[in-house]
Amino acid sequence: MEKLSTLIIADNREQSDLLKRELVAVPDTILDIVISSSLSEAKPVLLKRPEIIFIEISEIAESGIDLVRRISLESPTSLLVAISKNDDADLILKAVRAGAKDFLKIPTTSSQLTPLIERAKRIESGAKPLKERMGKVVTVFSNKGGTGTTTLAINLAVALATLNEFSVVVVDLVLQHGDVSAFLDIAPTYTIVDIIENFERLDASFLKAALAKHSSGIYVLAEPLHPEEAELITTSQIGEILKLLRTMFDYVIVDGGNEFDEHVLSSLDLSDTILLLSLLNLPAIRNTKRCLDIFRRLRYDPEKARLIINRYDSHEIDKVSIESVEKALNYTVSWKLPNDYFSVISAINQGLPIFSIDRRSKLSQSILQLAGILADRQIPTQLIKREEGLLDKVKQIWKGGK
Ligand SMILES: Nc1ncnc2c1ncn2[C@@H]1O[C@H](COP(=O)(O)OP(=O)(O)O)[C@@H](O)[C@H]1O
Ligand SMILES: [Mg+2]
Repeated sequence: MEKLSTLIIADNREQSDLLKRELVAVPDTILDIVISSSLSEAKPVLLKRPEIIFIEISEIAESGIDLVRRISLESPTSLLVAISKNDDADLILKAVRAGAKDFLKIPTTSSQLTPLIERAKRIESGAKPLKERMGKVVTVFSNKGGTGTTTLAINLAVALATLNEFSVVVVDLVLQHGDVSAFLDIAPTYTIVDIIENFERLDASFLKAALAKHSSGIYVLAEPLHPEEAELITTSQIGEILKLLRTMFDYVIVDGGNEFDEHVLSSLDLSDTILLLSLLNLPAIRNTKRCLDIFRRLRYDPEKARLIINRYDSHEIDKVSIESVEKALNYTVSWKLPNDYFSVISAINQGLPIFSIDRRSKLSQSILQLAGILADRQIPTQLIKREEGLLDKVKQIWKGGK
């Protein structure tokens, strides 16, 4: 049985010991428990990314909440549990807003701790701890503007973050005129240019500090504020940034935009998966054909470059059929995203992901399913009501790539 490393941070030693005793009594579990009375004492353990962290917040509420906030940013993969002697709603809310994933009133019992431990085990088996992590790079690309690249990149990122609590960063590689910050309505303090200008200092903590955090939980590496700054950035720098990001996040989603330039090429090369977006109309298909030809010349595996049709509308008459597209391109369509103008526009106008507007909309559901397949996970039933067997069916379609 795998050991779950557990950290308790509490001023009061007596409380920590009580909690430890109950933790040890949880059945079928081996915990490696360390007790600290302060953040500085806990630092060395935090570096090892414990699976569970308990933080006592009742003594001095504000500093406890502060601690929760700091540690939730530094240890995004840990199950962070705020504990307190009093359980007034205000305090719980504050703790959760600061990043606690759960709250527990102390003193507690081993039977109350059991569900928590089970949750930590699920996270542990799903998301690898940071030190061993090799996240996946997914580039969303289309060689024609207005196809939905930014829309998919952002919403896929939020879907992955919602599924099984993956940590996700979106990189805006549309260096001259990126839209990610605008779509999410964030005003980033730093952009990729700040990283390039301090490139010799590049490491995980520096990079993390340069990212913007969106309220949905995803991080964003923003595009340059001024288009001319894009020229400062070299392809090898892009490569290094992406490689570092993938050690820090479960998923690095790149908005590759609509132009084949050398920056995008370095991202496409590095990607585990490319989602090539197209539309069911002739100009779009013609462009997609050019793009697939380049992918073939680059010897990209068809398993790596997946063709996605956006704005699919099965009711449209006169439409080009999926079958004829597959034949013309000699390539399998891996996924269809429905046309859902209303959801997209209200999302963009409010600077929110589509999920925040309407989780049950056709497009939200479709992107959630796509995220579930990418992550090869069952989609939690509370997020999506699906027909029996639908996921298995779509998985088969997905696996059938040529
Ligand atoms: N599935 C969809 N259904 C309806 N409209 C969409 C869909 N996806 C994208 N759009 C619309 O298409 C426009 C272009 O999308 P965007 O993500 O900016 O494309 P790109 O980044 O490829 O230029 C957006 O204004 C959005 O309203
Ligand atoms: Mg775009």
